[in-house]
Amino acid sequence: MQTKVIKELIHAEPSLHPVTIMGWVRSFRSNRFIALNDGSTIKNLQCVVDFENFEEEVLKKVTIGAALKVEGTLVESQGQGQDVEVQVSKLEVLGEAHPDDVKLTILQPKRHSLEKLREQAHLRVRTNTFGAVMRLRSKLAFAIHEYFQKNGFYYMHTPIITGSDAEGAGEMFRVSALDPKNPPLNEDGSVNYKEDFFEKETNLTVSGQLEAETYAMGLGKVYTFGPTFRAENSNTSRHLAEFWMIEPEVAFYDLDDNMDLAEDFIKYVIQYALEHCEDDLEFLEKRLLEEEKSKPQNERSEMTLREKLRFVLENNFVRVSYTEAIEILKRSKPNQKKKFKYLIEEWGADLQSEHERFLVEKHFKCPVILFDYPAKIKAFYMRLNEDEKTVRAMDVLFPGIGEIVGGSQREERYEVLKQKMEAMDIPEEELYWYLDLRKFGTCVHSGFGLGFERLVQFVTGMGNIRDVIPYPRTPGNAEF
Ligand code: 4AD
Ligand code: MG
Repeated sequence: MQTKVIKELIHAEPSLHPVTIMGWVRSFRSNRFIALNDGSTIKNLQCVVDFENFEEEVLKKVTIGAALKVEGTLVESQGQGQDVEVQVSKLEVLGEAHPDDVKLTILQPKRHSLEKLREQAHLRVRTNTFGAVMRLRSKLAFAIHEYFQKNGFYYMHTPIITGSDAEGAGEMFRVSALDPKNPPLNEDGSVNYKEDFFEKETNLTVSGQLEAETYAMGLGKVYTFGPTFRAENSNTSRHLAEFWMIEPEVAFYDLDDNMDLAEDFIKYVIQYALEHCEDDLEFLEKRLLEEEKSKPQNERSEMTLREKLRFVLENNFVRVSYTEAIEILKRSKPNQKKKFKYLIEEWGADLQSEHERFLVEKHFKCPVILFDYPAKIKAFYMRLNEDEKTVRAMDVLFPGIGEIVGGSQREERYEVLKQKMEAMDIPEEELYWYLDLRKFGTCVHSGFGLGFERLVQFVTGMGNIRDVIPYPRTPGNAEF
């Protein structure tokens, strides 16, 4: 007796050897054809029962959502849509799913809105769409590790609880073990965190970068891949309060090396998905085409999902300085005609997602890497250019997504970094260890952060970031 997963069986040769399969019922037609899915692939396995040979009581329990154990032989399929099917000899209902209960859930086989599916996030992975998205998410995570491991990077784990604010933006979730009803107070009435668990103020990390830099100074090439947390009140289709970030950090890399790495890395993982996730991508591509039918013609995409992925592989990312980008945006039609919500008037303006998307989708029609941003709108750790106005920052912008990567060459000069920290009110006593790196064998180095969910969005074509992570955390929502 062999227990096999459906992914293997659908490509196997018919055989007299009995097989055992376990999975969940997707449909049961004519009291004869069970479509069984076990999550190993988007495809269902057709299991054929001769109802004369089975007890009616058992067959009654074969309903949508029920868990089954099926034994039988793999035979050539008579019907269309599959090469092989299972001629069932034994059938066991492992777990029933009562039709009256199922009716109230998204397991009910009909079109449900993505919003509705989100409300039942504990069941949505049993739908074709979420099965496909979550298999891709897993494959992409593997491809990311494979890329770095093949290229001599070491995986490091950065702390999740930390005392520092890596981005200096103050968007942190506090971690405390104090009794909120009765916290110890200082004389001035403020909370005394010296009496807290860590004897200081702590928060969930917003980025592992600063710690990754310390390891790059010893291991050369490192990367992190972990959860990060941002208490920013952005209720958009691109923001989560808890998301996963990949952060490589490399000693002796300058900004050009960093851009090369980002481009090569992104292309590798997209290529991997195309090669290893064909069935799921085919399904998601069709889903997207369906979804786009409800949009006006001019908002529909010119390319299918896989064409978009291949397009990224086949074209160089356009590299443009912030200053050039501002000139393009100033002269652009939506700016001239005041169609942008935030008009671009002068150098120094922070770019909004409408501007990023204009550059990528309308102007260059290609992924874009913007670099050398104004120092004022970027974090304290980025290397100051000779002009003393711009820093060696880079953002990778993607069609439909906007910013997918943010990174920079790091400020490696002790005095310059110290001055910048002072100017930006970053307390030296908290980051003495970060400054230390500039005292002991400092060197040019660079790195970036890729938002994993934004990558999964791009590859799966899902419009909302809440639909590419199992249990999204957003303002007002931490269900499950
Ligand atoms: O641009 P960010 O804030 O850069 C950093 O955190 C650097 N410390 C990274 C580094 O250089 N090591 O974030 C990096 C990426 C963004 O480009 C975006 O893809 C993603 O992380 N990201 C988010 N994804 C989902 N929800 C959010 N709230 C995100 N904020 C950033
Ligand atoms: Mg950024």
